[in-house]
Parts: sequence; structure tokens; C-alpha cells
Amino acid sequence: MCGIVGYIGEEQAAPILLDGLAKLEYRGYDSAGMAIYDGEKINIQKSMGRLKVLSELTHDGSTMPGCIGIGHTRWATHGEPSDANAHPHFNESKTIAVVHNGIIENYVKLKKKLTDKGYQFLSETDTEVVAHLLDYYYKKNEEKPDRIIETITKVMHRVEGSYALGIIFQDQPDRVYALRKDSPLIVGKGAHGNLIASDVPAVLKYTRDVYFIDNEEIACLTKEEISFFNSDGESIEKTSKRIDWDINAAEKGGYEHFLLKEMYEQPKTVRDTLNPRIKDGQIVIEELGMTDEEICAINRIHIVACGSAYHTGVTAKYIMEGLARIPVEVDLASEFRYRNPILQKNDLVIIISQSGETADSLAALREAKEQGITTLGIVNVVGSSIAREADRVMYTWAGPEISVATTKAYSAQLIAHYLLAIHFAKVKGMITDEKVADMITELKALPAQIEMLLANKEKIQKMANRYVGAKDVFFIGRGIDYAIGLEGSLKLKEISYIHSEAYAAGELKHGTISLIEEGTLVISLVTQKDLYLKTISNIVEVRSRGAVVFAVTNEDNTEIEKNADYVIYVPQTNKYFTNSLAIVPLQLFAYYVSIGRGCDVDKPRNLAKSVTVE
Ligand code: M6R
Repeated sequence: MCGIVGYIGEEQAAPILLDGLAKLEYRGYDSAGMAIYDGEKINIQKSMGRLKVLSELTHDGSTMPGCIGIGHTRWATHGEPSDANAHPHFNESKTIAVVHNGIIENYVKLKKKLTDKGYQFLSETDTEVVAHLLDYYYKKNEEKPDRIIETITKVMHRVEGSYALGIIFQDQPDRVYALRKDSPLIVGKGAHGNLIASDVPAVLKYTRDVYFIDNEEIACLTKEEISFFNSDGESIEKTSKRIDWDINAAEKGGYEHFLLKEMYEQPKTVRDTLNPRIKDGQIVIEELGMTDEEICAINRIHIVACGSAYHTGVTAKYIMEGLARIPVEVDLASEFRYRNPILQKNDLVIIISQSGETADSLAALREAKEQGITTLGIVNVVGSSIAREADRVMYTWAGPEISVATTKAYSAQLIAHYLLAIHFAKVKGMITDEKVADMITELKALPAQIEMLLANKEKIQKMANRYVGAKDVFFIGRGIDYAIGLEGSLKLKEISYIHSEAYAAGELKHGTISLIEEGTLVISLVTQKDLYLKTISNIVEVRSRGAVVFAVTNEDNTEIEKNADYVIYVPQTNKYFTNSLAIVPLQLFAYYVSIGRGCDVDKPRNLAKSVTVE
């Protein structure tokens, strides 16, 4: 979590850093800071609070002159959000400034050693050890010909954990240094200067030519040049990639919030993820690189992910098992990596991640690879760690997702799962060409159906207004409807701070039903025709205990009106694709409830978009 930026060039650095940090604020937003070299010395300004506090403090950067600098937006791990703990951090003589994204796991040990050597610490962060360690080795390497690279590689070998670091040295004023291990870092080559950042949107305004820095690599930026080194300090060559994203994708484009904009981008996202993989009426997933024999030989699929990505995995289990009859296990990445999972030859591990940087998902991927199991990443961010490390990558073409709560990337992940399941089922001979053709027609209809649901938002808005003050909300459903409920519940609680839980409808009476009281809102997902009657029985049970029921169901299930207080109908589609439609009213509901409560929907408290710590 946290976002780092850096700039060296002909322009004033501070406004460029502030602009870059604004694009990275989704990564953390409890404090922000900048270090700028003014021609004589390094000045730091930092403050607890959102980036706008730093902008005000520096009069939009104008009080910090200089063309070289680094910046940071923080999601606190070690040390509470405070001015002192905000980055950048200095060495004692204020000649070295550091920004950091990640966790230095052995910082206690290093801090003790440095304290014993007389170093004094001003913050509670793990990062400050890096500033002092750099100072220590910089002094020690005084005689070395390549003193800085020697110093940085030495520090690299001493620190354990994850890091993307931006560093400036007062007596090397024409350079910005950056290095990384297990936290994302890119370098942008601009016409009027060069940049570092945690993510591409931060540099898109200035350049589309980007280098993706690999683990244990170092970048050295001057105004004109960028050079790279490995962890032994040897010079290495890297090739830049041209980023062809639409720059407007990272802007609000007239919408009040990124979250709303991204919800409305879902039809496009679905099309972009789907269309390139349908050729001549067939599903073709070229990037999968698996022969029919390999697909037929798959013994078991393990889907591993976190948060909403995990919820798409829960949906995928029903579809993959239903269509292709391949057993699927779905794991939370944070559990998978420590439970010594049983992985066997011919298993396939699928890691799902929007950011491609989620620490637990990345660790799960590495665990699977270590055991020699084929891995497939379903990833949104091009060039991210999971995309680069997985054996195969299937991209979800959702474009940059800025809002912390995911919507469009979630929808794109669902499409990727549908495509995989249909493709595997077809190759295994479990479904006919005719069936595939029907399903493709239904898939192609989804974008317009989502558009229609988004256009009819008034009813949801009205309902949301009534439940702005809700204390607890329950989501119930069976099968895929349960998976939809998991995501609907997460969406509501993460942005509105209303407690909510998703339950398999049949499980409710094994304990949770005791929480239902007069007026409790129960949102029921009823899109699986073969389960209509079963779920309706559960609706009746909660209603008779005072619950108010909001049902989301298919157009053909008008019977439900007798049993629900509010009904939202979603268009008819294949039973396996209902998640793509039913999630839309739940997203809108979460959004409008949260707006009604005055919440910051794009940046909910305590959260960060990319969870790069365990
Ligand atoms: O980048 P990832 O898809 O790996 O992120 C996984 C979760 O952190 C993410 O889905 C999270 O749950 C979102 N806040 C959900 O809106």
C-alpha cells in the first residue's frame, strides 16, 4: 500500500509530484509528503491527512521550489498516521531523503543496531531505518568509486521484506534513485524529465514510455537518462513499454466519484474483456497457451484470491464445476499460503487480482509455482507482479480502476471465468457447439443489459435513501446467488460502514436468524430458477421474524412480489451469468446509501486499493 512518486527534469518538481500523488491516493491516504532539492539542500514538507492538506501547506507546491524530488501518500502500517510518521524520512544530517511503499520486516533488529551506533529515530516507522542505513553505508563507502550504487546494494542486502523506495541524496543532486522488491515500481521516460511511481496513472500525463522495474533492480534517473542495475550493482539493460491506456480512464470524466464512473464503465469493460476472445463464433483464449490434451488432463482447479476477486472465484466454482465438471477449490490467498495446500500434478492454480500486486495472492502464486503447478493469472494491471510471474496471464481489460471499492474489474473477472469455463467444457466435450453458440449470444447481450440496469437507478436510489440509517443488513442466496450476496455485502460495508453479512440462505437458521428483528433489511438474491422455491422459503422465514425483504430476481419470477417488500428485476440470461446483472443494483444500492451517509466512497476509511502487505 502507499504510493511513491519521484521526478527529475526541467520543470518544477512539486506540482508534478502532487499531481502524481493524486493519481496514487487510492493506494493510501492517511498522510502525504514531499522532499524537494532546492539547489542547496533538501526540504521536506509532510502532514497527516489527505493530500489536499499537503497541497494547502505548500500552496500547491509553490513554496517548495526545485526540479528534483520524491513524494509519498501513506497507508499506515508501522506507526499511527501522524506528521512524524508521514514520509519522506531523513537521515540525521538531512542529506538523504527516502519514500517507501512496503514493510521492512527486520526493522526492529536494524533499528537496534543503528541505535547502538548512535542513530536517533524521530518516527515509529519501519522506513526510517532505511534512511539511517543509507547514511551508515554512504559514510562507510566514501572511498568506493561507485559509492551510491555500493551503498544502495548494501542496504538492499540488509533489509528484509517488501519495498519500493525513492531516494534523493543532497550531494548527488542530479539524480533520483529507486529500487524495489515485492512492491510495484515503474519508471517513466518523459520529454522534459523522468519519473518514478508506484503505478502507471501517476506518470501518464507526462509520458507513455514506461519501464517496469523487476525485483531487486535499481534505477538511477537523471534529467536526460535512466540507467538500471542489478542487486550486485552491475549495469543492466531494460526495454520500455508503450502504454496505450486512454488517459481519461484515470480521470473522473464529469462523474462525482470514480466509483460511479467505474460502475458506468462496466458495459464497456465487459465488451472489452469478451469481444477479443470470440472469433468466428468460437471462444478463443490465445494467451492461455494450453493444448486440448492439457485441458482434458486438468485434475483440479484451485482458485486463489482476496476480497472481491475471491468472490468472483466463488462464482467461478459453480460455473466451472457445472459446465466443465472439473473440481474447483476456492481459497482466500491469506489462508491458502499457510495451510500447506495439497497440490497435485495436473492441477491448475488460478490467481485472480485486479492490481496484480496483492501480497497474499502473489505469495500464493509463488507457493504454487514452487510446487511445480501450472499457474494462470487473471489480472487487470498490465505488467504487474502477478501478471509477470504467473505461467500464463489472461488480462481483464477494465483499464485503470481508481476507486478503492472494485466494480468494473470485478465484472471483467466474471467474464474471464465464464470464458474459461465454457472453453474448458467445450474442449472436454461436455457441451455442444450449439450450446456454446447460445451462450456466446447471451454473453454478448450482457453489456446492453447492464446498461439498462444502470439507467434504471431511480428505484434503487429511493430505497437506498430509506436505509441510510440501517444498522445491520443481511444478504441471502443459494449457489451463485450466495456468491453475489458475498460481493453485495462487501460493497455495502466497505463504503457505507454499515455492518452487513452474506449468508447461504439455507444456513441462516443455523444461528444467524437470531439477529433478525423488526425492520432488519434482508437483501435476497433469487436468480437461480431451480432454487427459487427454496430461497423463497428462507425469505418467508426472515419476513415472519420482522425482516424487510429486498429481492433481486429474474424477470420471470413475478411470484416473488407476494413475498418481498421491494423487488428489482434483472433481465433474463443464462443461469451461470446472472451475477453480472444482479450485482449492478447491489453496487448502486451501496453507492447511494453511502452517499446518503456522507461517506467518502472513493476512499473509504482504513482501506487502500492495493494491499501489498500481508
Ligand atoms: O487487487 P486485488 O484484486 O488482488 O485486490 C483484492 C482485494 O483487496 C479487493 O478486491 C478488495 O476487496 C476491494 N476493496 C473490494 O472492493
